[in-house]
Amino acid sequence: MFYKILTYGCQMNEHESEKLSAVLDSFNFKEAAGENFDILIFNTCCIRETAEKKVFGHIGDVKKLKQKNSELIVAVIGCLPQQKGYEQKLKEKFPFIDIIIGTYNLTNFAKILSNFIKNRKYQSNVSEVFEIDSCITTANRPSKVKANVNIMYGCDNYCSYCIVPYVRGNEVSRDIKVILKEVNGLLNDDYKEITLLGQNVNSYKFEGFDFADLLNEITKINKKFFMRFLTSHPKDLSEKIVKIMSKSSNIFKSVHLPVQSGSDRILKLMNRKYTVDEYLEKIQMLKKYIPDVQITTDIIAGFPTETESDFESTLKLMEKVKFSGAFTFVYSSRSGTEASRMSGQIDYATKKNRIQKLIQLQKEITYELNAYTEGKTFEILVEDMSDNENYLLGKTIHDKKVLFLGKKNLVGEFIKVKIEKASRTALYGSLVLD
Ligand code: SAH
Ligand code: SF4
Ligand code: F3S
Repeated sequence: MFYKILTYGCQMNEHESEKLSAVLDSFNFKEAAGENFDILIFNTCCIRETAEKKVFGHIGDVKKLKQKNSELIVAVIGCLPQQKGYEQKLKEKFPFIDIIIGTYNLTNFAKILSNFIKNRKYQSNVSEVFEIDSCITTANRPSKVKANVNIMYGCDNYCSYCIVPYVRGNEVSRDIKVILKEVNGLLNDDYKEITLLGQNVNSYKFEGFDFADLLNEITKINKKFFMRFLTSHPKDLSEKIVKIMSKSSNIFKSVHLPVQSGSDRILKLMNRKYTVDEYLEKIQMLKKYIPDVQITTDIIAGFPTETESDFESTLKLMEKVKFSGAFTFVYSSRSGTEASRMSGQIDYATKKNRIQKLIQLQKEITYELNAYTEGKTFEILVEDMSDNENYLLGKTIHDKKVLFLGKKNLVGEFIKVKIEKASRTALYGSLVLD
């Protein structure tokens, strides 16, 4: 039987779909190449209301498919049904759903699917206990150049706006030996970019090994590759980590360091456990060891009680740090979180107006930083053909996207490119022949 997985949400979810695909293949299911499939799986996200609405809309569209083909098996998995009461909510709204499971049930999923096929009876497994699938080490990765590797699951931080700890459970780090084996295996298979994944990679801890130790072990591998990690919580970014980053020629000179707000009062309400000054000290430390480091961030507009003056502080911080990129979000109330119970929720028009200002300012800063690269030559990793078939797509060790004319056989190679023109979203260059 053929399956299709539709994935929503973060890189962690993307990677889990890759693992689920490998699990299903081992049970003799096959991924559908086109639109002919017997099983449709939604691997869902609920980080913001918009993410949730999108999934609900797409599941609603399946009704027509199911009317045409009553045998079609529809499964909903991941973060959305893991929320309290959502299994019932989904089932009431979409009675045609055949299987609902929560997070971390990938191995179970194949068994549950086989059960459903035998009995044709609704199956579900949304357990309160998070059963970590750390034993799954295979994944069907779509790229032959870059690969994600999970180093931990869950989150203990309980930022007051965030649903992740509720749907992903407490932080659990994977065995360092298993991670190193997976990374070595990928490098032996000629992968050239490894991304270590976790909600808060900096707090990795396994039997006395911390994140810096893990990085250190990986830097001992004598191969040329790029290595990056997502996401870093500012409170846990230590000098030990930054020192190792600065010594390695493989680790990205780019750090995603979500700040969320530039107001101390809001940061406290968010339970982020750092002040603006402490955040700026982390930036100083990064710049001391890695002078050309690029920093990207996440910012939330319109957290409950955010005043114009709080918001102005965020704009000021953006100007001060000059992030190379920022993901900006309108605050979205998530049921069960502390912030959803706070008084002083901000109206949508104000939130929208604020996010637009954040986006506009960031556009100018990103362009300004990208413009510095014009005329300079960088080593880049060629990742893929771009959508425009004549162009190749690559990235620098600073995580800057580069487009240039070149042949497909360069995919997976490290080459030199001279930047001719910078735009806000990419750098355009030409191949430098040594
Ligand atoms: N663990 C990571 C990523 C979490 S989700 C981290 O801490 O950085 C990615 C981003 O989504 C967060 O950084 C935050 O900016 C945003 N986000 C999370 N919950 C949100 C909510 N309820 N409303 C708006 N944005 C939210
Ligand atoms: Fe959510 Fe905060 Fe954990 Fe990130 S660190 S996943 S924002 S609770
Ligand atoms: Fe979404 Fe779950 Fe990731 S809520 S952002 S898919 S951890």
